[in-house]
Amino acid sequence: MHITFCCTDTKPEPWIEGLRAALPDAALSVWQPGTPAADYAVVWAPPQEFLDQQPEIKALFNIGAGVDALLKCRLPPQARVVRLDDAGMSVQMAEYVCHAVIRHFREFDGYEADVKQGRWSYRKPRSRADCAVGVMGLGVLGARVARALQVFEFPVNGWSRSPKSIDGVRGFSGSGGFHDFLAASRVLVNLLPLTSDTQDILNRDTLSRLQPGGYVINVARGAHLVEDDLLALLDAGHLAGATLDVFRTEPLPAGHPFWTHPRITLTPHTSARTLRDESIAQIAGKIRALEQGEPIAGIVDPVRGY
Ligand code: NAP
Ligand code: GLV
Repeated sequence: MHITFCCTDTKPEPWIEGLRAALPDAALSVWQPGTPAADYAVVWAPPQEFLDQQPEIKALFNIGAGVDALLKCRLPPQARVVRLDDAGMSVQMAEYVCHAVIRHFREFDGYEADVKQGRWSYRKPRSRADCAVGVMGLGVLGARVARALQVFEFPVNGWSRSPKSIDGVRGFSGSGGFHDFLAASRVLVNLLPLTSDTQDILNRDTLSRLQPGGYVINVARGAHLVEDDLLALLDAGHLAGATLDVFRTEPLPAGHPFWTHPRITLTPHTSARTLRDESIAQIAGKIRALEQGEPIAGIVDPVRGY
């Protein structure tokens, strides 16, 4: 069995070492033009040339949860696309989102500014009941985030394509449930996959439907958000602020208004990182299962786009 590694911007040696330890009988390579065709590949943003040279490949293991970039390529028709299935990401996402929600809700930015001025001042406690958090996408990450937010007793709404039942989460589904979901939420957390249905979904119309003083947390993909619409709603006062981890262009270009906006907190696409050891263990386990003809979780439906 030949496994090849083709991940842009990722140092291959530790991955190869880890895969060798997990699958000692496999032949491993770091792909470059001319490398023989493989049975399996570990990929992130691979070049089209790589995909065109894989006539027999059984599965492409994406070392991230989101497969939007991979699905833009022309894929070998027989290849299964397999996403990372949590592998240590959901707990990171839960801590990031809870941190952002609590920081907003408890006005910690305001207190920090006061302290910097040497000011000992109190703000009026906000009502938790008035701070319903809407989680868009109730998959591997969204469901974990929705459960984590309940620990802090925020009312939690969830929106997914098909109806979902999560204890304590008010569920909405489909395009028919979208406007009611937005109207019931003040803080909006985006954890949707990027597909043709969800691109630009955070726009002037949808964000205007949030309760006044709304707050946006985008941790999915930059192309979900129409950036100028967010800025306009912040300026108009309908939105109180935003925490953004993902951007239409990454790295965020120098001079972009988000860098210095007083009500935008940003991080460099780091809310849930790929953890190498966990990912290798998961991928190796799935390769063993596939070799034995067993089913695996995390196979992407290329038509649905996630
Ligand atoms: P997932 O398990 O595939 O879950 C996707 C969820 O979105 C599902 O609940 C799905 O509904 C829902 N959905 C999809 N299309 C929809 C639509 N048109 N309308 C309403 N709901 C829709 O994905 P995940 O693992 O939770 O990851 C979500 C995304 O997070 C990834 O695709 C990636 O872009 C992003 N991500 C970002 C980072 C980061 O560091 N910033 C890290 C990891 C992932 P159903 O349940 O009905 O199918
Ligand atoms: C990161 O953004 C991922 O999709 O895993």
